[in-house]
Amino acid sequence: MTLQRTALEKIRLNPFDIFSKEWGLLTVGSAESYNTMTIAWGQFGFMWNKNVITVVVRPQRYTFEFIEKHPRFTVSFFGDKMRDALKLCGSKSGRDINKIAEAGLTPRVSEEGIFFEEASLVFCAETIYKSRSEYESFTNKNIPDEIYPKRDYHHWYTGEITTVLTSNES
Ligand SMILES: Cc1cc2nc3c(=O)[nH]c(=O)nc-3n(C[C@H](O)[C@H](O)[C@H](O)COP(=O)(O)O)c2cc1C
Repeated sequence: MTLQRTALEKIRLNPFDIFSKEWGLLTVGSAESYNTMTIAWGQFGFMWNKNVITVVVRPQRYTFEFIEKHPRFTVSFFGDKMRDALKLCGSKSGRDINKIAEAGLTPRVSEEGIFFEEASLVFCAETIYKSRSEYESFTNKNIPDEIYPKRDYHHWYTGEITTVLTSNES
């Protein structure tokens, strides 16, 4: 199975299901040091005349240290495959174990980011905007009360999509 560059215009996906049901792996770093974690919250869209993907990261994640430092990130989606790998990468920290090896994932390092051979769809992005959720900005206070009892508000990273890769099996 190989990943090939695909024009964004050719991609057909349900932006709701792909995050909430399929989940993805957010991967950030350099060839020397990188990390990945499972994400289920995010957005696709068109902003500032650019095709974008937005991910949200809580500050205690190891991945947070990478996304704060590095200008690019990738999000790999796997269809209905690699569920156990996604569960592992969403429950263990890269601070504690080599979860990429334990999850049986094969990283591919490219100039546009680090992603996984096993993915069926990969978005490579360059961060163009970042912000942080804050209590005052929620017009529905039930959300921060329920989602952030520890006040560990997500940081938001919007990336311009630079490359899309699809597997020849998808
Ligand atoms: C299905 C699922 C979705 C998740 N989505 C997010 C998310 O969108 N943002 C986030 O900060 N953490 C999310 N997490 C939690 C991180 O994946 C988890 O804390 C992970 O162990 C962090 O790894 P790290 O410390 O190596 O960065 C999710 C976990 C699961 C299982």
